[in-house]
This record gives sequence, structure tokens and C-alpha cells, in this order.
Amino acid sequence: MAAARGSLLMPAGGLLVVLCVVVFFVQSVQAVNATAPANSTSLLSVIDYSPDHVSYSGNIVTLKMDSQSGSRVHSVGRYAYGVFSADIKCPAGDTVGLIPTFYTSSLEGSEYKDELDWEFLGKNSSIIQTNVWVDGVGKREAVHDLGFDCSQAFHKYTIDWNPLRAKWFIDGQLVRTYVNTGNASEYPTKPAYAYASIWDSGYPGEGWNGRATYANAPYFYQLANVTVSSPGSSTGPSSAPRPAPARSPVGSPVRSPVKITLPGRKLFR
Ligand SMILES: *[C@@H]1O[C@H](CO)[C@@H](O)[C@H](O)[C@H]1NC(C)=O
Ligand SMILES: *[C@@H]1O[C@H](CO)[C@@H](O)[C@H](O)[C@H]1NC(C)=O
Ligand SMILES: *[C@@H]1O[C@H](CO)[C@@H](O)[C@H](O)[C@H]1NC(C)=O
Ligand SMILES: *[C@@H]1O[C@H](CO)[C@@H](O)[C@H](O)[C@H]1NC(C)=O
Ligand SMILES: *[C@@H]1O[C@H](CO)[C@@H](O)[C@H](O)[C@H]1NC(C)=O
Repeated sequence: MAAARGSLLMPAGGLLVVLCVVVFFVQSVQAVNATAPANSTSLLSVIDYSPDHVSYSGNIVTLKMDSQSGSRVHSVGRYAYGVFSADIKCPAGDTVGLIPTFYTSSLEGSEYKDELDWEFLGKNSSIIQTNVWVDGVGKREAVHDLGFDCSQAFHKYTIDWNPLRAKWFIDGQLVRTYVNTGNASEYPTKPAYAYASIWDSGYPGEGWNGRATYANAPYFYQLANVTVSSPGSSTGPSSAPRPAPARSPVGSPVRSPVKITLPGRKLFR
């Protein structure tokens, strides 16, 4: 009888353990937002540094860059794939060395980050760079001619990312497609925040984008109508390493460090 009761209790105890594990796992996994807030101000509401360089006005987010600092903002939640879009106007004047950005990232600063980037290259306001990062490895840059000066007017920049491919559009025109070939080390899959920033790629050297002069500082980088439309269906640890992403650096320019802090000067990507 005792043995029979014991054998009846075993499945119940086992089930309890399984439930506890499931509850713990669900709680330890970051939830993913399926829908974005309705306006730029509420969407890009998290300020990573230099809050005095960020201002919100209606549907416009303005990031200020001067010789002391730029700034970076991001969304509250992460999105598991989605269409990330913003109307953007670059800062005017001599912007050599500065990089205004709009991008997705599983977690900026993480050595395992996945990213899809728009990066204006301040040395030339008629071009833009796109890039793809997987498990902390980028080096998939492409540079595109805008056909206009990005500091003259707002234009719409979109990243349309799904499990099969990522597409970059400017004013609705496709400029790049990056396909998931099935190699997990080559395609971003981690749920991602929407980010925007302006940073100095050059200091203290020349770098790949020239050395900033700050001749026309302060600079103002503006994003309006920032939206994310996401199926948001998957959840999972957003910056966990995948096994053996080992890949030796080859070719193309190395990106500046994520964060450089120097006396009296804060420079971040
Ligand atoms: C944007 O959202 C913020 C935060 O919810 C709100 O305070 C603000 O009024 C909104 N602005 C517009 C233009 O809808
Ligand atoms: C999803 O977005 C809402 C509204 O901005 C926010 O309150 C919530 O914290 C977000 N969820 C996550 C997991 O970030
Ligand atoms: C900027 O880029 C455009 C488009 O590629 C090019 O025609 C122009 O010569 C470049 N300007 C400078 C100053 O390099
Ligand atoms: C997958 O991509 C990684 C990184 O580019 C590469 O090192 C590896 O050889 C690829 N694997 C296959 C099976 O192609
Ligand atoms: C924001 O979107 C509205 C509606 O499409 C458009 O009229 C407006 O020009 C956009 N704002 C900017 C600054 O591009």
C-alpha cells in the first residue's frame, strides 16, 4: 500500500518540479514587445547617456552632439523581428567624424550582440552605411549613395527584418537585402531594441570617417515618426552566446570601440 501511494505521488512531485522549472524559465526570459508605442518620444524613451543631450518634442527626438558628448536612446522593449522605421534629418555643417545612427540591436555593448544598422557617415552627407552584426561580429558593411543631402530634409529610413531576410529601404526604395542562408552565425535572430545615437568615430585618431572638427557644434540629429511594427512572437535570451561563433576578423574597417571614456569627454557609439 505504502509502495503504491509512493508510486502515485512520484508523478505529482515530478510534475511540480517541471512546473517550477517552466515558471523559472519563463520569468528569466525577457518578454518581447509585440507592438510599439505610438510616437517617437515614447518609443525611444530610454536614454543611455547624456540625458542633457536629448530632447523630446511631440513626435520628434533630437540628439545633440558637441565636443563633450553625443547621446544614445533606445526602446523600452525588444522586438522579435519587425519593421523599424524613422523619418530622419542629419545634422548640418561640418560633420566629419560624426556618426548619426538608427539601428536594431539585441543589446548595445554585449559581445554577443546582433544588429542591423543604418549609419550616416558624417564625412559625406550624401552616403549611408548599412551593416549586419551577429554574435558580436560585424564587418558586413555596405555603403549606399543617397542621391540627396541627408541634412537638408527628413527622409524615411526603414529596416524590414524577418526570419528569412533583412531589407533596408530609403523613402520606400530598396537599397539592400541580406538573406538568411541558414547559418546561425550569419543571421541576426535575437530580439532587438530600436536604437538611435550620434557618436564620434574618430577621436582620438582619424578613424574611417575622418576626424571631427566640431566647427559647427552643437549638432542636432533629429528622428521623427519612429515606429516599430513587430510580430513579436518569439521570446528568448536576447544576448546569450551561441556555441562557437569563432570567426577570425577579415577585411573591411574595424568599427570603433563601443565605449571610450576619456577625461572630460564622453564618446560612445
Ligand atoms: C507621445 O507619447 C508621450 C508619452 O506617452 C506623450 O506624453 C506625448 O504627449 C505623445 N506625443 C504625441 C505628439 O502624441
Ligand atoms: C513594452 O512596452 C511597454 C510600453 O512602452 C512598456 O511599458 C513595457 O515595459 C515594455 N515591455 C518590455 C518587456 O520591455
Ligand atoms: C560624397 O559621396 C557622393 C556619392 O558617392 C560622391 O559623389 C561625392 O563625390 C562624395 N563627396 C565627397 C566630398 O567625397
Ligand atoms: C557559418 O558561418 C560562419 C561565420 O561566417 C563560418 O565560420 C562557418 O564556416 C559557416 N558554416 C558553414 C557550415 O558554412
Ligand atoms: C511624420 O509623418 C507624417 C505623416 O506621414 C508626415 O506628414 C510628416 O511630414 C512626418 N514628419 C516628419 C518630420 O517627417
